[in-house]
Amino acid sequence: MTGGAPGDLGGDGIRDQGGGRYGEAVFRPEQAGEGDRIDYGALAYDDITMARLRALGVGPGWRCLDVGAGTGTVSRRLLDEAGVAGVLAVDRDVRFLRERRVPGLDVLEADITGPGFVPGRRFRLVHARFVLMHLPEPDALVTRLAELVEPGGVLVLSDAVDLTSDRTPDTPYTVAMRAMWRGLKDTIGTDVSWVPSYPRVLRGAGLEAVAAEIHVPPLTPGSPLSRFWADTWQRSRAAMLATGLVDDAAVDEAIRYLDSDACAALSAGMLTVWGRKPEGDGAPA
Ligand SMILES: C[S@@+](CC[C@H](N)C(=O)[O-])C[C@H]1O[C@@H](n2cnc3c(N)ncnc32)[C@H](O)[C@@H]1O
Repeated sequence: MTGGAPGDLGGDGIRDQGGGRYGEAVFRPEQAGEGDRIDYGALAYDDITMARLRALGVGPGWRCLDVGAGTGTVSRRLLDEAGVAGVLAVDRDVRFLRERRVPGLDVLEADITGPGFVPGRRFRLVHARFVLMHLPEPDALVTRLAELVEPGGVLVLSDAVDLTSDRTPDTPYTVAMRAMWRGLKDTIGTDVSWVPSYPRVLRGAGLEAVAAEIHVPPLTPGSPLSRFWADTWQRSRAAMLATGLVDDAAVDEAIRYLDSDACAALSAGMLTVWGRKPEGDGAPA
């Protein structure tokens, strides 16, 4: 651990993240209901993700890598709906993936930031959603993932974009969101500030036909997205309180606000970026 402000790059070039890691300091998979939380997010975003993947041509014959696959909703829909040839779903903890196995789905437990992550082959689709924003050295990870794309294949990344600004009025929602982003950054290094740079990063990783889009599902009481944020705040409550930006009462108020008719808020968006690996790029995986 280096001694700079939370989120700073330490002398070793790795983001100072308060010593915690995703799945340990927060969002522990063994904590009851964590799979449900991931599924709420999936319910809000899977249709958007699948539409983009299908538009990029993902379909029969494609071998796919789903990085940080969570509960595997996208992996299974690739098989069931897009009819791909196979999916390798990778996660640091594969308990949810093992619970819902289907033919064509291979599961690998690996930390994608570590040397043990060596799939040993390349894929026509490499996909990662809501993963890289939580990890150190995201630029280097994008380069690593781009290397796993076969010539002519695509890399598709999705992560959150915070659409609030200094001028966004304080509401229970915006106050809680600010505390959440700060708390996650201080605790595990989550950093969404670089996400709008994705297109440039993919181009820098040698990909072509790079493009991006943002989707913001409506935040309505009782919606999967509303339940996702409420659950996310509950699970990151300690990190939020540690920022000093909120107290317990403010988090409780924000959770009630989300489910009330008073709620008038713009959710964080999901930025999806994609790029194609040039044909004839024969570098080893
Ligand atoms: C927010 S969830 C997203 C799950 C899924 N991609 C989705 O969008 O529904 C983040 C996932 O990334 C996984 N993850 C976090 N850090 C990881 C790492 N270093 N290596 C592999 N997986 C990781 C977590 O275990 C979790 O399943």
